[in-house]
Amino acid sequence: MAKKYFIKTFGCQMNVYDSNRMANILETMGFVKASNQRDADVVVFNTCHIREKAAEKVFSDLGREYQIKLERAEEGKDTIIGVTGCVVQAEDKEILKRAPYVDFALGPLRYFRLKEVVNEILQKREMQLLDTEFSAVSKFDYLPENKTIGGCSFLAIQEGCNNFCTYCVVPYTRGVEVSRPVEDVLREARCLADSGTLEINLLGQNVNSYHGEDANGKERNLAYLLNKVAEIDGIKRIRYTTSYPADVDDDLIMCHKNIDKLMPYLHLPIQSGSDDILKKMNRRHTKSDYLKVVEKLKKANPNIGMSSDFIVGFPGESDADFQQTLDVVNQVKYIQAFSFKYSRRPGTPAAVMENQIEEKVKKERLQILQDLLFDYQTKFNESSVGKVMPVLFEGKGRHKGQLTGRTPYMQNLYAEADFSLINKIVEVRVASASTNSLSGEVI
Ligand code: 5AD
Ligand code: SF4
Repeated sequence: MAKKYFIKTFGCQMNVYDSNRMANILETMGFVKASNQRDADVVVFNTCHIREKAAEKVFSDLGREYQIKLERAEEGKDTIIGVTGCVVQAEDKEILKRAPYVDFALGPLRYFRLKEVVNEILQKREMQLLDTEFSAVSKFDYLPENKTIGGCSFLAIQEGCNNFCTYCVVPYTRGVEVSRPVEDVLREARCLADSGTLEINLLGQNVNSYHGEDANGKERNLAYLLNKVAEIDGIKRIRYTTSYPADVDDDLIMCHKNIDKLMPYLHLPIQSGSDDILKKMNRRHTKSDYLKVVEKLKKANPNIGMSSDFIVGFPGESDADFQQTLDVVNQVKYIQAFSFKYSRRPGTPAAVMENQIEEKVKKERLQILQDLLFDYQTKFNESSVGKVMPVLFEGKGRHKGQLTGRTPYMQNLYAEADFSLINKIVEVRVASASTNSLSGEVI
């Protein structure tokens, strides 16, 4: 019987992409996807280090997997446990100390070695393998074809970050910024389109600073790439994430006017509305710079819906600073957003800044911010009622006979629909709305 794998993904969309690519590798080795963790001969935890909670959850989940491993051993079954992703890069050797039953640990730039590593462990069962090198080679050159099946696919075009926001672990876990060559990206996009992808989401930690080389060695920007991806017939919808406000150029803004396939939704994190805090965060933009970019985007496409990330309780954040964040929300009227309490990350400059904010204050501010954000999100969702929208159905909904999909604005929509409509774009009339989802009827 074929050996089975199970990959558990924590964190961001880049991790979802990486997990898919690891599945690609394991499948070329003859492994098949296990329907549950207990059934798997190889279990990979693809981890996130962005906030303390995310990182700690990995260790509790790993502990549970060890119990499963022991139980399977009693049934005479061997289990290989691997850890990948940002926790590996950040913890390095510590990971094998804290979870000594782990068989291998590969950093986010090193998982292309998965096949070799699993084979080696299968041969020499007692060994433990750790690789957190910041390699000069590009992992993408060593990965098999991207055969991820589904209507929506991620495609990493850029990885790493040179911005060094003072709260953030990314430059330490994903390394410096690297852009993939244009032709590599287009080849992968065509391959995804051939296997049924209708919507492609171009990914990068700082995606709009993309500067990959074309076939002639000329550096090209994200706008160029978006236009090229739009030429691929099978691709009907395009998104890109995550953008850095100071790197939004006019070419990119024009894409929102000229490329019909580009969805009218943009995730553009501001983090804070206070110029003092933005400076302490080492962000290369002010509140007004950000608002100007949003204004230009709205001029290019008046239907664009904005989304953002926010951090509350950054060291030194006063009530007045926090008010500035609320002010931005009231001006931009985000249709969706993600907000977090500042989390001290070891090794980052903000972790040792003075005037750390008490947990109680962080909690209060987060509540106030989220109430306001949810208000705008609910209003936007309610404004969709009665409209007909193209929805890309992604899978089964919560109830029997129901599918779930996404509107161009990334709203979750539920509708009664036949399974045959999964991975198709279908016109749906929106019937009702709540803060987090819409429901509708297929036309
Ligand atoms: N604490 C809280 N939130 C953080 N983020 C990044 N680092 C931290 C941190 N130390 C948030 C930012 C970023 C999102 C992915 O996570 O808002 O945009
Ligand atoms: Fe988490 Fe950042 Fe790593 Fe993504 S890149 S998994 S958000 S630490």
